Amino acid sequence: MPLHSKADSAGDLDLNPMYVREEGQSIPRNEIPARGMLPDTALQVVRDELILDGNARLNLATFVTTWMEPQARQLMAECFDKNMIDKDEYPQTAELERRCVNILASLWHAPDATASSTDGAVGAAAAAPSVGNGAPSVGNAGPSVGATGCSTTGSSEACMLGGMALLWRWRGRHSGAGAAAGPPNLVMGSNVQVCWEKFCRYWQVEPRLVPMAPGRLHLTGAEAAARCDENTIGVVAVMGSTMDGSYEPVHEIGQCLDQLHADTGLDVPVHVDGASGGFVAPFLQPDIEWDFRVRRVVSINASGHKYGLVYPGVGWVVWRDAAALPEDLIFRVNYLGGDMPTFALNFSRPGGHVAAQYYNFLRLGFEGFRRVQQACQDVAMHLSAEIAQIGPFELLTDGSELPVFAFRLRDEHAARYSVFDLSERLRQRGWRVPAYTFPADMRDTAVLRIVVRNGFSMDMAGLLLDDLRQHTQELAAQPCPPAAPVPGGRQRQRRAFAH
Ligand SMILES: Cc1ncc(COP(=O)(O)O)c(C=O)c1O
Repeated sequence: MPLHSKADSAGDLDLNPMYVREEGQSIPRNEIPARGMLPDTALQVVRDELILDGNARLNLATFVTTWMEPQARQLMAECFDKNMIDKDEYPQTAELERRCVNILASLWHAPDATASSTDGAVGAAAAAPSVGNGAPSVGNAGPSVGATGCSTTGSSEACMLGGMALLWRWRGRHSGAGAAAGPPNLVMGSNVQVCWEKFCRYWQVEPRLVPMAPGRLHLTGAEAAARCDENTIGVVAVMGSTMDGSYEPVHEIGQCLDQLHADTGLDVPVHVDGASGGFVAPFLQPDIEWDFRVRRVVSINASGHKYGLVYPGVGWVVWRDAAALPEDLIFRVNYLGGDMPTFALNFSRPGGHVAAQYYNFLRLGFEGFRRVQQACQDVAMHLSAEIAQIGPFELLTDGSELPVFAFRLRDEHAARYSVFDLSERLRQRGWRVPAYTFPADMRDTAVLRIVVRNGFSMDMAGLLLDDLRQHTQELAAQPCPPAAPVPGGRQRQRRAFAH
């Protein structure tokens, strides 16, 4: 059974007569056609199908980059044929990966790594050139030339690698005489992205999820520390939450774990899931201590394809230092004549994304990144302030951390219509604003969430607000209000959580 199925998948594809040379040419939908076709015909057929995907720029559900400038697209196209894994064959692509790891390690205040490996970005090259250039770099810890980290296909893979390193280090601590009394566990808020639940299931780690509560929409230090024991491989802190864009208090979590250490001897490390915030906080909130400045933070991931401004297909993970990444997780592959250290879940992967990430760092510099993220935040905060003014909505966040915010209908309005109704209506003009319910213990809270990304202008925000105001008015004026939402019933069926 395919994992994704759709009702209309039977029958042949319909071909426009202008594309075909012979009468009656058909294209079976689910089998390879007996004969081929001209490239332009194939292009047209596939393009026609994809029209129905909608306009990515109006998609306010996704965190993922939907626009890059033509020069970046060209660079990516030039690198389509490079395989990221063939570091021996494409040493300069590998070099760009190393520089990106060093740039991120430096932005995230990693202490200079002591690793002396000169191959691959895992245990990256001490020989890698400094990219800090000595230029003034606000919020930048200075050039890091030997950071430990690598690129991945996205944050999900990066989180898996970060989680595996935690698991391996915990096993190392509990091997032999100090064998663990129970299965390993990972402490995190119930608001974590699904990749952490995957990690726990695939690696048989118990997920210790701290439920949400009214007024506490993410993990706190006290809640995290209270759930740790000798089998805790680590605590995951999210910068920021996929649910509402809020930052978890990494510094406070570190302090509570320090206290736990002092009180009980339990020494619990922290992984920061900075899928989005890893590329936002260094530029917009340089004073928030969420990164390697917090002593307990051993690893950080981020999605290059979110606020790193690259098209989908790249993530990053960086460890505090070489000691934080157990050596036995690194494979030294004898490939095409070279000894290549790798730590990845997959093997082949296109090189263009890494080149594009490096391009973005050069193209924008620190100040350019800051301006792009600031523009997103200005739009997000303008939108949230205007939405709060409309009347029926209560903001849960306002876009002042990630340029992302969530809002709900006040109870007196929720009896007449739901956020799901509003989300469906907004789709009529192409806007994708997801509506979903929160996880345990706040399943009865349904919200709309808006992610403001590069390219969503004040003008577009104005158009969205016009539509939102109009639909809100129309829904409120409905002659016959639908039945009140049943907790866990209709709302749950219509849950539409999109990352
Ligand atoms: C906090 C967080 N972690 C991990 C992920 C997974 O990221 P990716 O889509 O890059 O695999 C997401 C995606 O939205 C996220 O928001």
